[in-house]
Amino acid sequence: MAAELLAMPDSELFALADRVCRAEFGTSVYLRGLIEATNNCSRDCAYCGIRRSNPNARRYALSDQDILDAVREGRRAGLSSFVVQGAEDPAFGTGRLAGLARLLRSELGDDVALTLSFGTLSRSAYAELRRAGWNRYLLRFETSDPDLHLALRGSTLDRRLEALRDLRDLGFEVGTGFMTGLPGTNEATLVRDVALTASLEPDMVGIGPFIPHPGTPLARARCRGLAPMQRAVAAVRVLLPQANMPATTAAGSVAPDGRERALAAGANVLMPNIGPAAHKKDYELYPGKICLDEDGIRCMGCLSGRVASVGKRVDMGRGDSPAWLARHGRARVAEAGA
Ligand code: 5AD
Ligand code: FES
Repeated sequence: MAAELLAMPDSELFALADRVCRAEFGTSVYLRGLIEATNNCSRDCAYCGIRRSNPNARRYALSDQDILDAVREGRRAGLSSFVVQGAEDPAFGTGRLAGLARLLRSELGDDVALTLSFGTLSRSAYAELRRAGWNRYLLRFETSDPDLHLALRGSTLDRRLEALRDLRDLGFEVGTGFMTGLPGTNEATLVRDVALTASLEPDMVGIGPFIPHPGTPLARARCRGLAPMQRAVAAVRVLLPQANMPATTAAGSVAPDGRERALAAGANVLMPNIGPAAHKKDYELYPGKICLDEDGIRCMGCLSGRVASVGKRVDMGRGDSPAWLARHGRARVAEAGA
């Protein structure tokens, strides 16, 4: 099925994906306030600008108070869904992340969605985080090619998939996804990336173009542009009509209309960066990242215009996953613990 979809002419595939998306979500595009909490990463992924062995990355970590302040400001601006994204930073152990969820929940209650993205952790760590009040988790599998996965990440695809199963068992809304155009991939890889995504039945799917970073071993690779990302987004949308799918910042960084192109091909989420402006440029997974000088609230205004340009509108609701709701029942959305 993935192969058939990806073989369609682009314009037909994108139109089909847009119809499927509108049938499920109408014209809504949900906003998630993104806070990049730390770039101190103990991992060494070959594609990533904040990898451990990039000596030029200027390292920073937010305090819990910084994160709370950003979430408060986002809440005042009307957001009801927040994503705290980090790195595999030993300073952000499970106890601290659990405490952060309790702090945010004590302030905001159960009406907001709290999403965490801190990499591959043990099942018991995920269980503690879920009990503490995080209710969504993002963990891309990055590439479905097992050999490439191991070569780029230094750990196995199977381990990543095991973590995704743990997250699902524990009652998280689970997000996964991958990069398009990694060196060593081809059309067959894209088909397998889409098929693996569909087989995992995630609640959220993030797909972005790989952008080479000068401080990594892939510095001399080429960026293959937006087309593979847009085709993958569209194919996944058709296979998973209920998935929440962001138009990624990476897409917007490759071309000024990159996010609009994703929204026109089935994406239904945007993630304005609402963290402190002073550190935005240091969370540099790839060069050319957009919105570095804007504060998050200004981005929200800009995003409304972009969304309108594709005939959609910003929706400030929590945007729960319809598939998650079907699995668990509406009453348990913000319940702490599975
Ligand atoms: N280009 C594009 N996306 C990247 N990511 C990491 N490095 C890069 C890069 N060079 C993506 C990965 C990760 C997400 C947070 O950012 O897919 O899961
Ligand atoms: Fe940030 Fe447009 S989305 S300035």
